[in-house]
Order: sequence, then structure tokens, then C-alpha cells
Amino acid sequence: MKEKLSAMRQAAFERIEQAKSLEALNDIKVSLLGKKGELTSVLKGMKDVAPEERPAVGQMVNETRAAIEELLEKERKVIARRIREEKMKNEVIDVTLPGKKKMTGHRHPNQIALDDLERVFIGMGYEVVEGPEVEYDKYNFELLNIPENHPAKDEQDTFYITKDILLRTQTSPVQARIMETGRMPIRILSPGRVFRSDEVDATHSPSFHQVEGLVVDKGITLADLKGTIDQWAKEFFGPDTKTKFRPHHFPFTEPSAEVDVTCFKCGGKGCRMCKGSGWIEILGCGMVHPKVLKDCGIDPEVYSGFAFGIGLERITLLKYEIDDMRLLYENDKRFLDQF
Ligand code: DAH
Repeated sequence: MKEKLSAMRQAAFERIEQAKSLEALNDIKVSLLGKKGELTSVLKGMKDVAPEERPAVGQMVNETRAAIEELLEKERKVIARRIREEKMKNEVIDVTLPGKKKMTGHRHPNQIALDDLERVFIGMGYEVVEGPEVEYDKYNFELLNIPENHPAKDEQDTFYITKDILLRTQTSPVQARIMETGRMPIRILSPGRVFRSDEVDATHSPSFHQVEGLVVDKGITLADLKGTIDQWAKEFFGPDTKTKFRPHHFPFTEPSAEVDVTCFKCGGKGCRMCKGSGWIEILGCGMVHPKVLKDCGIDPEVYSGFAFGIGLERITLLKYEIDDMRLLYENDKRFLDQF
């Protein structure tokens, strides 16, 4: 028994000293001291030892266990330290390396301009609504008093899906959709994407954005339209901005006008931005045509209204003095990062 114990102890010490990892060490521990381990089975053999020898053998077993445990712990510390040192060596921090910047995205310049614009109109009590980009001819043209043979309906201007369904060429169809619901009064703003069969250049794109406005109520006059546009222009382009209404033609408004604002770059003196005129054109507008009201189910004898359409890219380019619309769509980070 004694010889067996000391041989076991010798073998155990050799195995422990050769262990290379904490896992290997743990396996050794289990195989020696575990429930089915070598030392445990020695203990089970105690019943065969003569009674008078049992205390001495028992003590030897305990000593062996204590010695093995002590060596296991010593070896565990050695391995743990070695692992830590290796880790430290591999994880050297080079304090001279440049830091990693967290990149946060931000709104597209078009979106910034739209948010600014919406804020002003929401402040005046407007509701922002959206309409479909794939639209019926009926809303895009017919209900807006754009007849069958109107040049805007030419296939060169419009992307047709079927004879009656197309990609909307303007946000104005939202006017007809809202009026048709019959809910009064109307005070809406409708931004969105529009499509025209245009070649890409510095001021054209087959897909761009407009913001439509519509107000219908009892007693709405041209003075309301002028006051509203003037107020928005002052808040959007600056308090010194003046507006000028130039007579124009749109099929769905009568009278119609185009609006110019005093150049916010030169204040109206004339510069490169306004091509020397001191004025910059920003939108189309007018009083809703009685025929349009009637076709959309509203009695023009009782109600009147005004509408306007703003080209979003146009005011974005103006506001940020960008001279090429393509920059807004190319997604070049060097450009977008400037906003
Ligand atoms: N829809 C017009 C266009 O695309 C813009 C426009 C002009 C909208 C006058 C209006 C308006 O609501 O009253 O050219």
C-alpha cells in the first residue's frame, strides 16, 4: 500500500509538472482526486489494510492528497501567469496610432431644406400629407384642368406605365386627391418625388422633388396667397427678403403667378447668383381654378383657395449656393460631409 502510494505520488508529480494548459491541469486533477480518481480508489482499498496499520496508511493518503493539491495549485498559478504575460505581450497598445473616429451620418441637404420649409408652414397650421408616386392620369392631369392634348402629357415629358397610369410629373395631383375627400377647410403641404423624361444636366434630372401647398376655405383671396408666400420667404431666406409676383400661366390656377425673391446673396443689387437681376425665381402659384374646385367636388361659389408648387432641389441649390444639381444625387461623401 505504502509503495503503491509513493509510486502514485511520483507519477502524479511528473504529470502535473508536464501539464501545459489549465485544461490539461484540470484533467489531471480529476483523474487523481475526482470521484473515480486514482487516490479515491486507493482509499477504497483501505478495507483490505490491517486494522492496526490503518491510521498510518490513512495519514499517508491524506499527506499525498495534500501534496498533490499543493503542487496542482502551484502549477496552476505558473500557467496562469504565463498565459497573462503572453496576452500582455500580444496586446501591446501603440499609443502613437491615430484614434478611430465614430462616423455619424446626417440629413441630406435636400432634407435639411425640406425640414426648414415644413417648419414654417407647420407653424402656420399646415398639415403635411403624401401622395403616390405612381399616379393615375386622372389626378396628375385631368382633374387639374390639363386636357387630353396638353403638351405636358407628351411621352417625351411623362413616364407612362399604361395609358392611364404614370409616374407623377408634379406633386399637384395631391391637390385633387385632398379636395376629393370633401374635408374642409384644407391647409396642406405635400412634399415628394416627381418624374419627367429629362436628360441629366446641371439643372435637370428625370427624378426630382416638389413641395405642393394647397389652402381651400371660405373667403380665401389672392391677398392670403401673397401674405403666406411672403411670410414663408422671409422665414426661409432671411427677414430682409422681398417677394415679387409675376403673372404666369398654370392650367389649374387662375390667376397664376411665378414668384421671385430678392437675391439673398447680394440683397437685390445684382450678382452672379441672380445673374445680375437682383431677383431669383422660386415657385409657381395661383388661385385654384374654379373648374378644378368643381371637378373635385367643391362648390366654387362657396369656397376658394390658393395653391403653390416649390421645386425642392431649386431652393436647396439656392440656399447652399450649389451650382450643379447632380451633386445632390451622386452621394459623394466629400460633398455631403459639408452640410
Ligand atoms: N405643378 C407645377 C409644375 O410642376 C408647379 C405649380 C405651379 C404648382 C402653380 C402649383 C401651382 O400648385 O399653383 O410646374
